[in-house]
Amino acid sequence: MTKRISKPVVIVNFKAYGEVEKEGALTLAMVCESVAEETGACICVCPPSVDLGYVSRKVSIPVLSQNVDPRAPGSATGWMTPSMVKGCGAAGTLINHSEHKVPKNLMGECVELSKGTELVTVVCADDVQSAAQAAEFRPEFIAVEPPELIGGDVSVTSANPRVIEETVDAVKKVNGSINVLCGAGVKTGEDVKAALGLGTSGVLLASGVVKAKDPRTVLLDLVKYL
Ligand code: G3P
Repeated sequence: MTKRISKPVVIVNFKAYGEVEKEGALTLAMVCESVAEETGACICVCPPSVDLGYVSRKVSIPVLSQNVDPRAPGSATGWMTPSMVKGCGAAGTLINHSEHKVPKNLMGECVELSKGTELVTVVCADDVQSAAQAAEFRPEFIAVEPPELIGGDVSVTSANPRVIEETVDAVKKVNGSINVLCGAGVKTGEDVKAALGLGTSGVLLASGVVKAKDPRTVLLDLVKYL
C-alpha cells in the first residue's frame, strides 16, 4: 500500500459531519483503507483539519487536507500553511472547495505554496469557466462540482453530464496534463463508471460515504468498476 495518489481515484471528503467527530474520522479512514487494500483501488480521505495529523499517521492510504491557507511558515496565527499540512503526513490538499472558497487572486498562491512542499493539489470549481481559470495554475487535479447538486441524491453524472464533458475539454485545452474529477451527489459504482466514461480520472464525494449506514458496502460498490 502506497500513499501515492494514482488514477482512477476516489476521494472521500469527510467535511465537518458529526459522524467524523471524535474517533469517527479515524474509524472511517480505516474502513476506506481496508477497502483500498482489499480491492487495490486508490481511495483518498480528507478528514477535518483537527484530525489531519492523527489520521495521516495511522492509515496507509493518501490523506488530503480539506483546505490550505496561502501562508508561509512564520507569523501566521491560526492559519494552516501547506508546509505544516505536508509535515503532518498529508499527501495533498483540496483548494477552493465550494464550502471553503479561496479568493481568485489567492488561488495561485495556494497552489504554488502547496506544490513547493510537494502536496498534490486538487482545486475545486463550480463550473466550466472557473475550472478553465483554475487550470492556469496547473494543479494536478481539478474537481468540478455544481454547488446545487452537492449533498443531494442525484449524481452530477446523470443530472448534468455536460458540465463534466465540457470541463474536461476546457481544462485539457489549457493544460493536457491536468486530471479532471467530478463530484456532487455521487453515491454508486454506476456513478463512478459514468464519471470515467465522461473523461474524468475519478470522483470527489462526501455524503454518500460519510452519512451511509454501512460505508464499507458503499465503498465496495463505488470501486467495483475501477
Ligand atoms: O467534496 C465533495 C462534495 O462537495 C460533494 O459532496 O455529498 O454531494 O458527495 P456530496
